[in-house]
Amino acid sequence: MIMNERAAPTPCASLERIERRYTRRDGAVTALDAVDLEIARGEMLALMGPSGSGKSTLLHVLGLLDTPTAGRYRLDGEDVSRLDDDSRSTRRNEKIGFVFQAFHLVPHLTLQENASLPLVYRGVHEDERRDRAATALRKVGLDHRLTHLPDEVSGGEQQRAAIARALIHEPPLLLADEPTGNLDETSAESILDLVRSIHQGGTTVVLVTHNPHVAAMAERTQEIRDGRLL
Ligand SMILES: Nc1ncnc2c1ncn2[C@@H]1O[C@H](COP(=O)(O)OP(=O)(O)OP(=O)(O)O)[C@@H](O)[C@H]1O
Ligand SMILES: [Mg+2]
Repeated sequence: MIMNERAAPTPCASLERIERRYTRRDGAVTALDAVDLEIARGEMLALMGPSGSGKSTLLHVLGLLDTPTAGRYRLDGEDVSRLDDDSRSTRRNEKIGFVFQAFHLVPHLTLQENASLPLVYRGVHEDERRDRAATALRKVGLDHRLTHLPDEVSGGEQQRAAIARALIHEPPLLLADEPTGNLDETSAESILDLVRSIHQGGTTVVLVTHNPHVAAMAERTQEIRDGRLL
């Protein structure tokens, strides 16, 4: 009998032999091929690789925006590889914040309304939504932009609003797909500072980037080529 054995802490996310194949008119593409990856709670991981190597596909699988065609994905210890659409949406809403390169804000909603969207899906009352969105926008330095529409603010401000939206329900895992790819250098720097402080606050972060300086900010860098981790 083994005494004093301490159970290893449950990883935030764990992928085992994950495969994602697409069928296209010109044949099948294996975007992810036997990917094994463990992401510890609270860590910050940078994902790097050439265009078409599978970075976004991997992030979409981690974010429950896409389903692997084979393999096992455990999120917070729960096997989420074969959940139906409803359960997948629920888990995504509870556990994941997602930030895209192209911001993906709803153009006819104010920044405050955009930031509050995840709370609509959770059935939070309107007054509370407004308050929490204002708080989230204040945290990312946008308290003077609550009633602006996305096209009335800069790219950096749009990305800040997208980050506020991603974090409004305080998910444990933040996934960011080239979040500074559409920004000038100064705005990119300040978005990276923001991501760094979110990570320091305890959130697990996975960041896709082409930029080695950005990757250097993470604790660990994972390279991907042709759908395989190196
Ligand atoms: N919906 C899709 N249907 C068919 N093939 C796809 C689809 N999405 C991605 N692929 C293919 O899967 C592979 C990986 O794509 P992915 O978007 O993950 O690459 P990436 O590393 O994010 O590239 P980039 O740096 O250009 O964003 C590519 O060969 C791509 O053409
Ligand atoms: Mg991509």
